[in-house]
Amino acid sequence: MRRRADAQPASSEPEARKKDPAEKQRRRTGATGGISYSSVLLNFGKCLLLIIIIPPFLNYASLQREEQMLLPRDGQVVDVGLGQKMHILCKGRGKPVVVLDAPAGMSSDIWLHVQDSVSAVTQVCTYDRVGLGFSKRAFPNETTGTEKVWGPSTTGRMVDDLHRLLRAANISTPFILVGSELGALNSRFYSHIHDVQVSDLVLIDPVPEEVFEEEQWNEYWYGKLLPSLHAQQLSAAAGLSRILIILGVLEPSIKGENVSEEVVQRQKYLLSNPAHQSSAVDEHYFMNESAAQVRDITKFKPLSSMISVSVLTGESFDEQMPEHLNQMVAKLQTRFLKESYPSANHVHIKGADRRMIYKKPSAISQHLRRLVNQRQARQQSE
Ligand SMILES: *[C@@H]1O[C@H](CO)[C@@H](O)[C@H](O)[C@H]1NC(C)=O
Ligand SMILES: *[C@@H]1O[C@H](CO)[C@@H](O)[C@H](O)[C@H]1NC(C)=O
Ligand SMILES: *[C@@H]1O[C@H](CO)[C@@H](O)[C@H](O)[C@H]1NC(C)=O
Ligand SMILES: *[C@@H]1O[C@H](CO)[C@@H](O)[C@H](O)[C@H]1NC(C)=O
Repeated sequence: MRRRADAQPASSEPEARKKDPAEKQRRRTGATGGISYSSVLLNFGKCLLLIIIIPPFLNYASLQREEQMLLPRDGQVVDVGLGQKMHILCKGRGKPVVVLDAPAGMSSDIWLHVQDSVSAVTQVCTYDRVGLGFSKRAFPNETTGTEKVWGPSTTGRMVDDLHRLLRAANISTPFILVGSELGALNSRFYSHIHDVQVSDLVLIDPVPEEVFEEEQWNEYWYGKLLPSLHAQQLSAAAGLSRILIILGVLEPSIKGENVSEEVVQRQKYLLSNPAHQSSAVDEHYFMNESAAQVRDITKFKPLSSMISVSVLTGESFDEQMPEHLNQMVAKLQTRFLKESYPSANHVHIKGADRRMIYKKPSAISQHLRRLVNQRQARQQSE
């Protein structure tokens, strides 16, 4: 008995170990504490995969649903030909119609306050340029692809689109055409080409076309602004923007007590929409080309003397931009206005910059209502 008991530990322990599969595993991987490197790696890989795949997938699914829900109730999606549909939203009744064209990368909501205020006296229409907001870019095919006179996101193409949209939507002419920043380039091009359709041209924060010949400006535009827009596009595509919005890190720019929940939701939708963000990048990227097109047109075909021009500028072009760049823009602005529109009525708006369309809308609305009243009074006396 005793001998057996003495001998047993020596011989049976290795025996028992060999039979325990968990122990075998532990010895093979050389890990302690029961968790192997490979399973940690495997779990980490799974998590990483979830982080990479799930947010864009959920974002994409949400975007599909929101697109239906958030289309403005009064908005119309109009077929403008060549397979392209565009979103236009008109409010109010009367003539002359006021048509509003937004800055680069902005959807029609940017005009919210101005449109509401001016629609008390006449019909006011906003729209989304192709690629932005609810004007989804159509895929070109053999037939539609032939119309390649202009680059996809340059002023020439945008003016073509707007011209077809206004005709398809039966907007009565002549109208008052209002453009801000890139919208101002478009409005100028439109007025020079289709001069019988425009009675008044209103430029808000117009970009002087010569600015893209300045190295400092191009450094800012292509070296700072464009990369940040590009990052926003990638973040939207990765589903990161949606997460940042949920966490409250990323916020819509139009907010405040008079902004409806619907408008806030729509901005969030566009912030997380890679298609919209990608068009915003394109519009900024091709802005120098747009400026060159407008410069050529104004030289080639001066503005009709029948069209009245007014210009609204703030104290600076962009408060967040370095001061020397603001001064440069102001100098070039004065020069191009003197050369191209010498009889323009110039209005300075105190304490405003390029965000005035939504931050200081009352100054713009007042100016537009005055223009509308003048035209209406003239029509009645005729
Ligand atoms: C191209 O698109 C237009 C507009 O959507 C359509 O009418 C036409 O049939 C298309 N052509 C081809 C070859 O797919
Ligand atoms: C424009 O007018 C035409 C003819 O009156 C009509 O067929 C068409 O539906 C109208 N379009 C819109 C967008 O209202
Ligand atoms: C909101 O609208 C009301 C009424 O139109 C106005 O009195 C008020 O100043 C507006 N508030 C802001 C922050 O614009
Ligand atoms: C616009 O800028 C791009 C990139 O800097 C450049 O390649 C292109 O030639 C410029 N176009 C014009 C018309 O200046």
